[in-house]
Amino acid sequence: MNAGVLIDQRFELEKELRGGGMGRIFRAKDRHTGATVAVKVANESGGDTAQRFRRESVLLAEIAHPAIVAYVAHGELPDRTPYLVMEWLAGSDLGDILEHQTARQETVRLSPQALASSAQSDDLAGGSLDIATVLLIGKRVAAALTALHARGVVHRDIKPGNLFLPGGDPAQAKLLDFGTARERMPAHPLTSEGMIVGTPYYMAPEQVREGGTIGPASDVWAVGCVLYECLSGRAPFSAPHPLAALARIMLDEPTLVSELRPDVPEDLARLVHEMLTKDAARRPADGAELLARLESISPVGSTVQRVAAAAPSRPSQRRLTGPESRV
Ligand SMILES: Nc1ncnc2c1ncn2[C@@H]1O[C@H](COP(=O)(O)OP(=O)(O)O)[C@@H](O)[C@H]1O
Ligand SMILES: [Mg+2]
Repeated sequence: MNAGVLIDQRFELEKELRGGGMGRIFRAKDRHTGATVAVKVANESGGDTAQRFRRESVLLAEIAHPAIVAYVAHGELPDRTPYLVMEWLAGSDLGDILEHQTARQETVRLSPQALASSAQSDDLAGGSLDIATVLLIGKRVAAALTALHARGVVHRDIKPGNLFLPGGDPAQAKLLDFGTARERMPAHPLTSEGMIVGTPYYMAPEQVREGGTIGPASDVWAVGCVLYECLSGRAPFSAPHPLAALARIMLDEPTLVSELRPDVPEDLARLVHEMLTKDAARRPADGAELLARLESISPVGSTVQRVAAAAPSRPSQRRLTGPESRV
């Protein structure tokens, strides 16, 4: 699968973006419409991965929402490898913006034993965003989750790398990657026994715990982690090793984010703290409740900024957060 390949007489692959957990992402041209699109090609043509991939495609095809990446088409390559075509988003994902290390970004589908031996990540501290920008990103994700939860679907892998800011504009933020999304009450267990699914640093306690009930409040937890990180520059349960992060998720009470960053409004800090309550029943219940809570918070004196990812080859060139990035 390479640039130049034409899929189903329609999608002309132009450039590979990156290889991911479930598939490879290409920028492509849609010959039917002339539009630039994103094509995600599964890593495997059969098995679990391909099945999850098909489920992602069907789910996305059924949802149209401004805060969720738009579906274009899906199908299979001649060798039966599934592919999914989405609108092309130009800009950066929030993971790049927060300058994450790859090790903490990866979705895992591992046994706890395998996780214990997985790579360590060292640089855990990233940048932070201004309050109005964080609130706006939070509202966009909450709106996307409102649509998802209303359908009885839980995303299960909310994290910076799965949130995209087209043109660096937080008002356009979109939720991506429905590869791990599941119906809230599946007929079958979520995964094979002993497996945990998600991204360690953003996983809710019930997601870590075997047999825990994963629901809309698990997504609320993950959004809480993302907002906390956008505000403070570090994930609330950051640790030098994913396994240590899981232990912190189960045991540690995070520091109130306003203690790390005093200009965070008290009501926002308390809401984020509530989203990170170990007991899922005591968090805002779902996307709709979260959206209402975020809408009641005023960003006091802060203005929304366009944000950009640092150029990977020039680590000294940080995100623009100063006055030069105001729009
Ligand atoms: N529609 C899109 N337009 C532009 N970039 C995209 C698009 N979809 C995904 N990407 C980029 O590719 C990355 C991986 O895509 P994602 O769907 O999250 O797959 P994975 O399962 O590999 O994490 C995203 O973090 C994002 O940076
Ligand atoms: Mg992803």
